[in-house]
Amino acid sequence: MIILAIESSCDDTAAAVVKDGRTVLSSCVSSQIEMHTIYGGVVPEIASRKHIEAVYGLADQALSDAGLARTDLDAIAVTYAPGLIGAVLVGVNFAKGAAASLGLPLIPVHHVRGHIAANYITHPDLEPPFVCLCISGGTTAIVDVKSYTEMEIMGGTRDDAAGECFDKVARVLGIGYPGGAPMDRLSQGGDDRKYELPVAHVAGAELDMSFSGLKTASLNLIHNAQQKGEDLDLPAFAASFGRAVSDSLVPRAMAALQAKGYGKLAVAGGVAANSRIRSDLQAACAQSRDKLYLPELRYCGDNAAMIGCQGYYEYQAGHLAGLDLNAYATRDISLG
Ligand code: KG4
Repeated sequence: MIILAIESSCDDTAAAVVKDGRTVLSSCVSSQIEMHTIYGGVVPEIASRKHIEAVYGLADQALSDAGLARTDLDAIAVTYAPGLIGAVLVGVNFAKGAAASLGLPLIPVHHVRGHIAANYITHPDLEPPFVCLCISGGTTAIVDVKSYTEMEIMGGTRDDAAGECFDKVARVLGIGYPGGAPMDRLSQGGDDRKYELPVAHVAGAELDMSFSGLKTASLNLIHNAQQKGEDLDLPAFAASFGRAVSDSLVPRAMAALQAKGYGKLAVAGGVAANSRIRSDLQAACAQSRDKLYLPELRYCGDNAAMIGCQGYYEYQAGHLAGLDLNAYATRDISLG
């Protein structure tokens, strides 16, 4: 089954062609980062307008990279939630037009389910059930992936997402947007014990997390140093920050994994590219003798290949949409 997939939930327009859920025939991503960098964050209306300009050409590019014609397609899959609403609407509307004009089924895909499915591309042997730590710019959640299409949140952030926290701190340091990758690079070789940053615990909800305190403490530390005219040891600060984020995520992901007893932990989303989190998870899983699945770096961030992959399993489960499909800014992953 050949699916054309479309993704436009934030600041990347993406189109991909995926065969039978696991084989990526093409994957095209057009990033808007340069445009939003001027403002230090994503400007929603600009994002929507850039998606509108890019989506048609990108879909054609994905088809031509795959060496296929429109008549070779069996279905259209699209991210319909969650995300910046104006941005998601562009992809949904394009996908509806494509499905209607080609007479093909339309498959709605939850963006975070897509991130989880990125692991199926990298690991052909991975099958549910498993636990997935989903960490991106908008989501921080531990998900029980019971089957390809049955999922339940076991724990998550009560406030900011991990990626959002990376981005805000990096913005105040003036090291670029989005800030996760520059913070990661800056942290290499830094002393991760030099700055003591808080790791929050949510009373009565052992798998839940909170990153707003870490964000505030980090911003206060930066501002205090600036006001006193002191130089912050930037590599040590970035390393200490990375350690605090990892110390929030890794023990909880491991506790969720032990509670389920699946023996398989996957990681998903843009923050899954973080070197500290990856190595801490590798060490924890080696010690507990659980198997760890990390997506290839190019499938950690937003892309449409992961949407085509999850779209295949949604189709198998009969999850199709009509041409009245709407887009949603927020939506529980368990609802699909
Ligand atoms: O999955 P993604 O591309 O978009 C969403 O669906 O949100 O994730 C983007 C997030 C941004 O917050 C970015 O700073 C973060 O992923 N990120 C990283 C790294 N690379 C990207 N965070 C920490 N370390 C990285 N190496």
